[in-house]
Amino acid sequence: MAQIFRPASNTLAKLTLFVGAVAPLATMILISQFTRSPQVTRVNVAYEQPVPFSHEHHVNELGIDCRYCHTSVEVSAQAGYPATHTCMSCHSQIWTNSPLLEPVRESYVKNVPLKWTVLNKVPDFVYFNHSIHVKRGVSCNNCHGPIQAMQMVYKGNAFQMRWCLDCHRNPEKYVNKPEFVWNLYRKIQSGAPLTPEENSLRLGRQYHRNTKEELEYGRKLVKDYHIKTEQLADCWICHR
Ligand code: HEC
Ligand code: HEC
Ligand code: HEC
Ligand code: HEC
Ligand code: HEC
Repeated sequence: MAQIFRPASNTLAKLTLFVGAVAPLATMILISQFTRSPQVTRVNVAYEQPVPFSHEHHVNELGIDCRYCHTSVEVSAQAGYPATHTCMSCHSQIWTNSPLLEPVRESYVKNVPLKWTVLNKVPDFVYFNHSIHVKRGVSCNNCHGPIQAMQMVYKGNAFQMRWCLDCHRNPEKYVNKPEFVWNLYRKIQSGAPLTPEENSLRLGRQYHRNTKEELEYGRKLVKDYHIKTEQLADCWICHR
C-alpha cells in the first residue's frame, strides 16, 4: 500500500503535539520568572499601608479574632480585607483624635474604601483556597509567619511550588483539628503553656511532626478527613 503521509509529516505531527503539550508549561515558567522578581518574592519586608495597622496590638494585646476582620477566610477562597466600618466599630469611640487614624475617618466620611496593599499573592495560573486549609486545621502562621507578633505585616513565605507540595505530599505532618487555628492565638495571648508545635508556630516556623505518636495523630486526622493523599499533589489540583 502506498504511503499516504510522508515520514516528514509524521515528524511534524509529533512536533505539533510536543509544542501543544509544552507551550502552556513554557508560558507558566515565563510568567513565573517575571512574577518571582525580587519585588514580589521578598519575604520579611514590611510594606507601605494607608494606615500603620498593627496586628501585634489588635490581635495579641486586644485579642481580636482574625475572622472579625478577615471575615471570609473560613468560608471562601479569599481571606479578604476589613471594611472601614469594621475599624470604625471601635474607632468612632476610641482614639477618635489619633492623627494615624485620619485616613480611616476620611474613608468613612467620604464612603471611599481604604486601599490596602496586597502582599501575599500567587500567580494567576495557581489556584488557592483558604477555607479548605483552615478547615483542615492548618494554622495561618504555618503559611504567613508570626502574624500575632507583627507591628507591620510582612510576607512570611514566598509560596514556592515545592513548599506547597511538601505539605500536599505529607499532610499528616501538618493537619489539625479546626479549633487548633483559633486556640493558638488565645493561648499565646493568655500565656498558657504551649506544645512544641504551637510554640514553633508562635515563632512563625513551620512544625514538621516526626515522633511516632505525632505522626499517628496526623494519619488518623488524614483518614477522618478522607484526604485523598494520592491526588493532593496532582498538577490539576493547583493548576486548573
Ligand atoms: C482588627 C482587624 C484585623 C484583625 C483582627 C486581623 N487582621 Fe489581618 N489585616 C488587617 C488589615 C487592615 C490588613 C491590611 C493591612 C496590613 O497589611 O497590615 C491585614 C493584613 C493581613 C495579612 C496580609 C494580607 C496580604 O495582603 O497579604 C495577613 C496574612 C493577615 N492580615 C493575617 C491575619 C491573621 C492570621 C489574623 C488573626 C491572628 C489577623 N490577620 C487579624 C486587619 C486585621
Ligand atoms: C475591637 C476594637 C478595635 C477595632 C475593631 C480596631 N481597633 Fe484599632 N485600636 C483599638 C484600640 C483599643 C487601640 C489603642 C489602644 C492603645 O494604644 O492602648 C487601637 C489603636 C489603633 C491604632 C493606633 C492609634 C495611635 O494613635 O496610636 C491604629 C492606627 C488603629 N488602631 C487602626 C485600626 C484599623 C485600621 C482598624 C480596622 C482595620 C482597627 N484599628 C480596628 C481597638 C480597635
Ligand atoms: C496553606 C497556606 C495558608 C494558610 C493556612 C492561610 N493562608 Fe492566607 N494566604 C495564603 C496564600 C497562598 C495567599 C495568596 C492567595 C492568592 O493570591 O489568592 C494568602 C493571602 C492572604 C491574605 C491576602 C488577601 C486575600 O484574601 O487573599 C490574607 C488577608 C490572608 N491570607 C489571611 C489569612 C488568615 C487570617 C489565615 C488563617 C485564618 C490564613 N490566611 C491562612 C496562604 C495561606
Ligand atoms: C501545611 C499544609 C499545606 C500547605 C502548606 C498547602 N496546602 Fe493546600 N491543602 C492542604 C490540605 C490538608 C488540603 C485539603 C485536602 C482535602 O481535604 O481533600 C489542601 C487542599 C488544597 C487545594 C484543594 C482545594 C479544593 O477546593 O479542592 C488546593 C487548590 C490547594 N490546597 C492549594 C495549595 C497551594 C497553591 C499551596 C501553596 C501556596 C498550598 N495548597 C499549601 C494542605 C496544605
Ligand atoms: C499544591 C499546589 C501545586 C501543585 C499540586 C502543583 N503546582 Fe505547579 N505551582 C504551584 C505554585 C504555588 C506555583 C508558583 C510558584 C512560584 O511563583 O514560585 C507553581 C508554578 C508552576 C510552574 C511555573 C514554574 C515554576 O516552577 O515556578 C510550572 C511549570 C508548574 N507549576 C507545573 C506544575 C506541574 C507540571 C505540576 C504537577 C506535577 C504542578 N505544577 C503541581 C503550585 C502547585
